[in-house]
Amino acid sequence: MTLDKTALVVDNNNNSTEVNLTGSASDTADMLDMTIGETVGKALLEDAKLNVRHANVFYGDKQAIHDISLDIGKNEVLAMIGPSGCGKSTFLRCLNRMNDTIPICRVEGSFLLDGEDIYDRRQDPVLLRSRVGMVFQKPNPFPKSIYDNVAYGVRLHGLAKNRAELDEIVEKSLRRAGLFNEVKDDLHKPGTGLSGGQQQRLCIARTIAIDPEVILMDEPTSALDPIATALIEELITELSEKYTIAIVTHSMQQAARVSNRTAYFHMGKLVEVNDTDSVFTTPQHPLTENYITGRFG
Ligand SMILES: Nc1ncnc2c1ncn2[C@@H]1O[C@H](COP(=O)(O)OP(=O)(O)OP(=O)(O)O)[C@@H](O)[C@H]1O
Ligand SMILES: [Mg+2]
Repeated sequence: MTLDKTALVVDNNNNSTEVNLTGSASDTADMLDMTIGETVGKALLEDAKLNVRHANVFYGDKQAIHDISLDIGKNEVLAMIGPSGCGKSTFLRCLNRMNDTIPICRVEGSFLLDGEDIYDRRQDPVLLRSRVGMVFQKPNPFPKSIYDNVAYGVRLHGLAKNRAELDEIVEKSLRRAGLFNEVKDDLHKPGTGLSGGQQQRLCIARTIAIDPEVILMDEPTSALDPIATALIEELITELSEKYTIAIVTHSMQQAARVSNRTAYFHMGKLVEVNDTDSVFTTPQHPLTENYITGRFG
């Protein structure tokens, strides 16, 4: 299939239509609005860490996520890309019930972590979030010392036997987040006194200190300089040996560098998900093609 002029769109009835990609980006987007259809590519996996089926998310009357089914594999780095407002953060927040904290938000569908229902009434959201950690776009250190920020979850969940073990976890987490050398003499100074990029690495250290199984990252490097970004990307690759990672990014280079699979979202739908190489070299959906070639978004 050549993607420079036409592409095949598959609709809900599995009919394929050839769509012309010439014309302005917005024309193409409007034209395809009706024909996003079912997700193309490889949304479901064998033996996944997370299974999402028929996710629908609403803010009041407004639907932000439309019938998304997606698995995230063990030791996988999944990149989530798409235009602003397409639902990436909303979808990510479903995975550790952060949407619970938004009163008008309603989540429907099935969300399983190792086969366990994330939304089961017996599930303790605090415990769940220790298994499914999150790093936000805007660093949000607690108004505590650098040390106490990293130690916070470790203490909360009783993960260190004594002070020496806690010291060790704090140091190791700060080292892995590439921050230790910059802060080692200031561990008892406030975390909020660090630069934006340092604060983000502090938040990453805080997240990994409790040894989560899944790490959700929502544009974690958008406030960082290229050096700190490279450190975080290296860390993501290292962490994926042990953890499952889902990362939202506006940088396609970043998605290409760090992820195994890439999911393209558009207007609350999951348009395409596939191995990262194939999404960037041979996208199957014209909306994905448009986005990655910079025609909109
Ligand atoms: N707290 C909220 N209350 C009401 N609507 C919201 C809320 N958060 C998100 N939305 C709406 O849900 C839709 C998806 O938003 P979301 O933040 O998930 O998009 P996004 O893909 O993460 O965008 P961006 O790339 O700009 O971060 C948007 O239409 C947005 O306005
Ligand atoms: Mg977002």
